[in-house]
Amino acid sequence: MQYDNIGPSDLKSSKIILGTWQAGKSMWANIDDKETTRAIRGALDTGINCIDTAIEYGGGHSERIIAKALSDVTRGEYYLLTKVFADKLGYDQVIAECDKSLKNLATDYIDLYQIHWPAGAWGSNVVPINETMEALVTLKQNGKIRNIGVSNFTAKQLKEASDYGPIISNQPPYSLLWRQYEEDTNTYCRENNLAILAYSPLSQGILTGKFKKDHKFAAGDHRSRNRLLEPQIFPKVEEVLASLQEYADKYSTSIGNIALNWLVSQPRTFAIVGARKLSQVQDNAKACNFQLTPNELMEIDTLSRLVTDNMQQDGTLWQG
Ligand SMILES: NC(=O)c1ccc[n+]([C@@H]2O[C@H](COP(=O)([O-])OP(=O)(O)OC[C@H]3O[C@@H](n4cnc5c(N)ncnc54)[C@H](OP(=O)(O)O)[C@@H]3O)[C@@H](O)[C@H]2O)c1
Repeated sequence: MQYDNIGPSDLKSSKIILGTWQAGKSMWANIDDKETTRAIRGALDTGINCIDTAIEYGGGHSERIIAKALSDVTRGEYYLLTKVFADKLGYDQVIAECDKSLKNLATDYIDLYQIHWPAGAWGSNVVPINETMEALVTLKQNGKIRNIGVSNFTAKQLKEASDYGPIISNQPPYSLLWRQYEEDTNTYCRENNLAILAYSPLSQGILTGKFKKDHKFAAGDHRSRNRLLEPQIFPKVEEVLASLQEYADKYSTSIGNIALNWLVSQPRTFAIVGARKLSQVQDNAKACNFQLTPNELMEIDTLSRLVTDNMQQDGTLWQG
C-alpha cells in the first residue's frame, strides 16, 4: 500500500480508500450487511486506513455499519470521511447533520467532513456557500470535525468556498473512463495543493471488465443507467478493456488494478473504491503493489481517450 497526506492536512491516508455507498444498500441490489461488515473490517488488514461514507447512504445505514464493524478497533487507527447532503446546507442543518453522523459513526470526531454536492444540486435550495462554510468552520473549531472537504465542486465553486474556510479536498467522479473534472477542477486542486479523492474509480465495476454487452443488473441496481453501458459507447469501452488486458498480463494483475494504479499515479489523487465484499477489497488493495512506467501511464491515458473523447461527459455518470 502507498500512503500520502490528504492535501495540506496531517491525514496520512492509504492511496486506496474504501468506499461504502454499497454498505448503505439503497440504489444497490443484494447487499448483505454481514458481507459489508467483513469488507470494512478486513480493509484495515490490507493496509487501507481510510473509509469514505455519507449520511445519504441508506439514511445513515452505511455509517452505522462502519461503526459496528470497527467497534473494537482503536479510533486513531483509521480515518473516517463522511458528507452532508445538498438539501441540508443551512447553518443549523449542517450542525444537526454532523451530530447525527457522529452518533451513527459512534465517534466524537470526523476526520474529513465534506459537502456532498453543491447547494442547488438534486433540486435542493440554493444556500449561500458562506453560510455552509460558517457552520463547517464552527464544527472544526469545536473539534467535531478535523478537516473540511467538498465533493462534485467545479473549480469556480471551490475557489468561492475557499474564501470562507480551509478546504483540503474535492471528491469528483474520476476514472480512466470518466474525466469530466480533469481539466478544470483537478488542475485547480493540483495548483492549490488540494487532494483529489476520486469516486467511482472503476467506473462502478466496468473497469474490472466483468460486465459484458447487454449485462442485466438486478432490480434496484442504479448501474443499469450507467452512461458507459449505452450501446453506442460500450463497444469502445470493450476496446479499451482489451488493450488494458495487455498491461494486466505484463504485471500479473487485473484490469481493475491497472485502472486504479493509473489513477493513483496522477498527482495528489486517491481512489475511493467501492466494494460489496471482502475479496474485492483485498484485490483492490493490491493496486499499488507495482509501478507502471511513465511511458505506460501515457499510453494508457491515450488509449482510454477512445471513450472519453467520443462521448459527452457532463452531469453524472448515470442517465436521468
Ligand atoms: N461524492 C459522491 O457524490 C460519490 C458518488 C459515488 C460514489 N462515491 C463514493 O465512492 C465510492 C466508490 O464509487 P462507486 O462505488 O460508485 O464505484 P466504483 O468504486 O468504481 O465501483 C464499485 C463496484 O465495482 C465492483 N468492484 C469493486 N472491486 C471489485 C473487484 N476487485 N472485482 C470485481 N468487481 C469489483 C463492485 O461491483 P458489484 O457491486 O457488481 O460487485 C462494486 O460495487 C462509493 O462507495 C462512495 O463511497 C461518492
